[in-house]
Amino acid sequence: MKAKRPGSLKPSTRETARVVWLPGDGVGPEVVREARRVVERAAELAGLELESREYPCGGRYWLQTGKEWPDEAFPACRDWADAVLLGAVGWPGATLPNGDLAGGGVLFGLRFGLDLYANVRPAKLFPGIPHRVCGAFRVVWPPESVDMVLIRENTEGCYAPVHGQLTRGGTSEVAVDSRIITRKGAERVIRHAFELARERQGAPGDGKRRVTCIDKANVMAGCRLFRGVFDEVALAYPDIATEHIYVDAFMQALVRQPEHFDVGVTTNMMGDIATDLAAVLQGGMGVAPSGEIGDRHAMFEGVHGSAPDIAGKGIANPLAAILSGAMMLDWIGCRKGSAAWRGAGAAIETAVRAMVAAGEGLSPDIGGTEGTSAVGDAVLRRLAGEARRASSSSARRPRRRRA
Ligand code: NAI
Ligand code: MG
Repeated sequence: MKAKRPGSLKPSTRETARVVWLPGDGVGPEVVREARRVVERAAELAGLELESREYPCGGRYWLQTGKEWPDEAFPACRDWADAVLLGAVGWPGATLPNGDLAGGGVLFGLRFGLDLYANVRPAKLFPGIPHRVCGAFRVVWPPESVDMVLIRENTEGCYAPVHGQLTRGGTSEVAVDSRIITRKGAERVIRHAFELARERQGAPGDGKRRVTCIDKANVMAGCRLFRGVFDEVALAYPDIATEHIYVDAFMQALVRQPEHFDVGVTTNMMGDIATDLAAVLQGGMGVAPSGEIGDRHAMFEGVHGSAPDIAGKGIANPLAAILSGAMMLDWIGCRKGSAAWRGAGAAIETAVRAMVAAGEGLSPDIGGTEGTSAVGDAVLRRLAGEARRASSSSARRPRRRRA
């Protein structure tokens, strides 16, 4: 047993939070390792205590064991953890007998099992990170033009588990993907979008707080319901500008006028597709974080998948996972009413922002040469100073909730 120094004998009064880490497949374990190092250090610097449990999961785990994750993993996420951080799931050749992605049970098990209905995806371009439109490292917009949050409904739509292939005469000739939109599902995610808009500073272009409803209400019944609920919810937020845009028009507006958008809200599959494009505006999949949030639980992960094409090469960008970790600490702080946890999350984002602005910690996907762990090291180097600054200023002023 370690000898305790005088003064450390009194019982710990440190605030504690519990996190389940699910590294998963491909680059998942590589980026989660860095996110965990950064999150643990940020908590430590803020005088906070983080308890961790880590479970293997995903397609490769299924190939080895016949299970997508250990039996104790979901109960730990549901009953023990304050929050979950996932790497990614999916591995070539790992397919369940019904044709589904092996490992998908982890992702959908958490989304449906913990009712994580709001998939919150900030797209913010930090100075020093080139956007990836045309695949070129070119500057077209000032970085401050891109600062929006897209919110994707996460428990309904085309990904709700009501689909399948119909077999006729021994041949699969028909496949059906039904799309379920409910009033309750629409209302709660739309409300989340308006609440978030209230806490933000408005669109970068004109400073207006605005929520954009992205749909295809001209042809889809589910979208007409979604839009109708949007209009009803909007009545309670007269301080926030609203607009409707069809999803196809939104895709081009996103690239042509990113500065117009503040908060966008949309249905599940449309949000899945639109947020990959939004990620390009902020530097690509390697830097796009997300939070999947319900009323009692939350799970955080980079928008990207397991990237088998670069897995094992040590070049995956961990910033998406690290920034997801920052969102996680912010959410834990909101849940606990704790400025200290929120400060630790803010310190990570500030450290990343300062690092890339100085041209450090850039991996190949954003025009640099640093490997995965070198990026983690560079964030850690920045963090100590930033965490000290954040905790002293959070003691002086109330913090606003970030995306
Ligand atoms: P992906 O996001 O894994 O990769 C798309 C492209 O982005 C690839 O060129 C990849 O190299 C690059 N990329 C992704 N993450 C990166 C990072 N951190 N740093 C640098 N470059 C990065 O999408 P893809 O290829 O469609 O899917 C691969 C597997 O992941 C599939 O099995 C898919 O089902 C699964 N997937 C899992 C998700 C999840 O766990 N939430 C989400 C999306 C896909
Ligand atoms: Mg996706």
